[in-house]
Amino acid sequence: RIAGPCGLVIFGVTGDLSRKKLMPAIYDLANRGLLPPGFALTGFARREWDTQDFGEVVYEAVKEHARTPFRQEVWDRLCEGFRFVQGAFDDDDAFDRLEATVRELDEVRGTGGNHAFYLSIPPGAFPVVCKQLARSGLSDQETPGWRRVVIEKPFGHDLASARELNAIVNDVFPEDSVFRIDHYLGKETVQNVLALRFANQLFEPIWNSNYVDHVQITMAEDIGLGGRAGYYDGIGAARDVIQNHLLQLLAFTAMEEPTSFSSAELRAEKIKILKAVKLAQPLDETTARGQYEGGSQGGEQVPGLKEEEGFNPESTTETFAAITCEVETRRWAGVPFYLRTGKRLGRRVTEIAVVFKRAPHLPFDATMTEELGQNALVIRVQPDEGVTMRFGSKVPGNQMEVRDVTMDFGYGSAFTEASPEAYERLILDVLLGEPSLFPVNEEVERSWEILDPVIEHWAANKKGPDAYPAGSWGPDSSAAMLARTGRVWRRP
Ligand code: BG6
Repeated sequence: RIAGPCGLVIFGVTGDLSRKKLMPAIYDLANRGLLPPGFALTGFARREWDTQDFGEVVYEAVKEHARTPFRQEVWDRLCEGFRFVQGAFDDDDAFDRLEATVRELDEVRGTGGNHAFYLSIPPGAFPVVCKQLARSGLSDQETPGWRRVVIEKPFGHDLASARELNAIVNDVFPEDSVFRIDHYLGKETVQNVLALRFANQLFEPIWNSNYVDHVQITMAEDIGLGGRAGYYDGIGAARDVIQNHLLQLLAFTAMEEPTSFSSAELRAEKIKILKAVKLAQPLDETTARGQYEGGSQGGEQVPGLKEEEGFNPESTTETFAAITCEVETRRWAGVPFYLRTGKRLGRRVTEIAVVFKRAPHLPFDATMTEELGQNALVIRVQPDEGVTMRFGSKVPGNQMEVRDVTMDFGYGSAFTEASPEAYERLILDVLLGEPSLFPVNEEVERSWEILDPVIEHWAANKKGPDAYPAGSWGPDSSAAMLARTGRVWRRP
């Protein structure tokens, strides 16, 4: 579907996200013919730029980060709709100028009063920007056309602050005009969890506690936190990734079939499952946290977190976090969901591994099954997108020896279509007014409610996170967390 007449205003347009993700995604959408002919992109920032400077920055960003090839005619058409408004968030005049710009765009670009405001700014600035949008009339829901707001995480840092933030935003924009970005939901492979489960007969009958032993959800990164101290120090891996991306992945993996993929049905099922999620106890055995130390990664010496620029040398911020969840439903009773994430780990990989129980009986000589593990279905979210099934197979030869083998589906070889970048899909959905892939306030608040006790438990324990060397798979306490129940983490 192609978006109808509309414009997008980005606040925080000088930031990294805007340059690396938003601007290239907009160009790619234009290149794929998914934006309306009169589409308008307005940047708002304090920087002393004019529209031409802004255009040059977008151009550089597109050249460097766009997925689709550069086409001059697409670019020329797109940049006719560029505007830049210079000002600070507390500057009434600047917002009045923005309001005039939006009206001008309605006239000359035919945007029809349809405008989305993308807050790619620190959450501390949400209240003032929301207030300004209301004061200047930009958020007015009564004007012809639609007015939507797009917000980036962090949606608060705990339940109380998330509630406050939601109240501030909802004071200005009704919930159905609020689009909260969890960019993991924009990934093809994450949406494919639903296709895999609900388009097939093969998996759903065994997708329950009768057959599943446990589920491991891993989001590992090899990068460190150099340059991100301002956002990350004091926040940590649990808030940065588990509260949003990993709990959303859990919800997709564990939820019941929605009656349709409409946003209301999909969100209702996700909320139901999030309500059933409980932390396994006791927390000092069922959670683990770590902080990377210097070490060698990919043949290169890298600093530890405490030596990274801008971080407090005494920082107790965790760069690795793992938790154990239980899902209290008939389908999942007794099946632990292990969630882990970290920086400076062995490699960059995100996957959901559904690990099955062992066959109830093995009619083989025990020495013939020493290399037989548990069956597993691994949804490879990134970077090598696909699905792997692991099962036992006879080793060729004159004995009945059985060993694990894998069967692979890879996006790269199965499809000729390239996957759109997550932000492309999500920006298009904002412009289309299609909210399915955006978490609603209740999901966000419930996710904090799940995670808060872990963070409080860690804060009360003065010992701080356990050290792990850069390039490893996290602290020993993470392995111990699974070992207590006789399980091991997968080595992706
Ligand atoms: C963001 C986190 O939400 O996701 C970052 O704030 C993290 O810390 C990033 O690096 C990872 O995204 P992706 O799409 O590269 O897995």
